[in-house]
Order: sequence, then C-alpha cells, then structure tokens
Amino acid sequence: MSDMKRLVLLGPPGAGKGTQAAMIADHFCVPRISTGDILRNAVREGTALGQQARAHMNRGELLPDSLMMEIVEERLKLPDCKNGFVLDGLPRTVIQAKELEKIVNIDIVVAIDVGEEEVVRRLAGRRLCPICEAGYHVEFKPPRQAEICDRCGTPLKQRDDDQEGVIRNRLKTYREWTAPLLEYYKRKSILRVIDGKGKVEEVFRRIVSLDLQKR
Ligand code: AP5
Repeated sequence: MSDMKRLVLLGPPGAGKGTQAAMIADHFCVPRISTGDILRNAVREGTALGQQARAHMNRGELLPDSLMMEIVEERLKLPDCKNGFVLDGLPRTVIQAKELEKIVNIDIVVAIDVGEEEVVRRLAGRRLCPICEAGYHVEFKPPRQAEICDRCGTPLKQRDDDQEGVIRNRLKTYREWTAPLLEYYKRKSILRVIDGKGKVEEVFRRIVSLDLQKR
C-alpha cells in the first residue's frame, strides 16, 4: 500500500474526531496523534504537564500554543510518522497552524461537520473505560451492561470536561479560536468538509472516499 497523506482532522468537540481518527489510523496503518489523549495521559500520570493541563481542560480552555507545538513537534519526529499520520486536536488556533507548517507539510484537512445540539448530546452521553480505554455512548454505543465495560468489566467513567457547563465553554472556545481554521485551510485549497451526521461507519465511508493515499 502507498503512503497515506498527512491528515489533520478538524471539527467541534464531540464531532467524532477521535472515533474517526482511530479508524483511519487502523485502516491505513499510520499513527493517530491525539493531543487530547497526550494531555489526559499526562494528567493521569501527574506530570508537570498534566498539572498545567488539568486546569485548562476542566475549564474548556486551550493550553498555550508554544507548549502544544513543543509536544507535537517531538511526536512528529518519531519514525512511525514517515508514512503519514492522522493529527487529531491540533492545530486549534491559526498560530498553531502556522507553526505546524514550519515542522511538516499537511496534505489534507478533513473537517467533520456536526451541529451544536448533536455534539452536546454526543459528549454528554460519552463513557470511557478508565482501564482499557474502550469508548462507549449511552445511546449510540451502549455497553451490554449499563455503565460497565464490555471488555474488562470495569465501571465506566465520564470525562471531567464532559459536564454540560464545560461542554458549552469548549464549544465557545472552538467557535472563537478553531473555527477560523476552516477559512484558513480553504484558502490553501486543502480543506475537505464532510457531513458528520449518521452512523460512525457512514461517516468513515465518507472520509475514506476522499482520496487519502499519496501518489
Ligand atoms: P480533545 O480531547 O481534543 O477534545 P475535543 O476536541 O473537545 O474532542 P473530543 O475528544 O471531546 O471529541 P471528538 O471530536 O474526538 O469526538 P469522539 O470521537 O470522542 O481536547 C481536550 C482538551 O485538551 C481541550 O479542550 C484543550 O483544553 C486541550 N487541548 C487539546 N489539544 C489542544 C491544542 N492543540 N491546543 C490547546 N489545547 C489543546 O466522539 C464523541 C462521542 O460521540 C463518543 O461517545 C462517540 O462514541 C460518539 N460518536 C462519535 N461519532 C458518532 C456518530 N457518528 N454518531 C453517534 N455518536 C457518535
């Protein structure tokens, strides 16, 4: 198989970026780089980064651009990125987009388009297994036994930033800082917008129907 394009996923919180990024990464055998996961791991491990991240994340605010760029630059240097990657969660500001260009060429930006009421519903119902990290949704992907992980039997948890007040703030942050990236990448002619409504598999089909392989 030829290399995959270097892909950025954009979309509001709860658009399905993490879900789709994992499927694309599996399908094309490339790494998924999720800045949210990197930060949540740091919070769990109690590192200095984690302590700084926790407060910002729990308010639904962004971490400083310079810090995020340092983290991603280190990650992109690893050899597994050389045949393509899916970047989920960065850039989130125009400054980050400009800094990213200095590190690597992005081939395609896929924006997942979902309305605000739908994302609130998706986030409020999201559940995660704290042990094996399997993801569920109380309505759209319920576990066999309510609030218990199918894979390992552990009680499921809600992300701290999935409380309704924080979700509204994350959406506000998205509108203010991240949504301008749609115009930014449109001007560069690398933006593809796909409809994020419908089943997970349908959304995935829409994404892979875009030409994601490098020639
Ligand atoms: P991050 O983890 O990136 O959060 P987010 O962008 O708010 O996105 P989510 O992970 O909440 O949602 P998603 O779009 O991945 O949707 P998912 O697939 O999970 O960032 C968290 C925080 O870290 C930020 O707020 C910020 O503080 C900080 N941060 C991160 N990057 C940063 C950066 N670059 N700069 C500064 N700060 C940064 O799906 C959601 C739910 O919906 C799931 O339950 C799923 O099962 C369900 N679902 C998915 N698709 C469908 C579907 N088609 N139909 C029905 N349900 C669906």
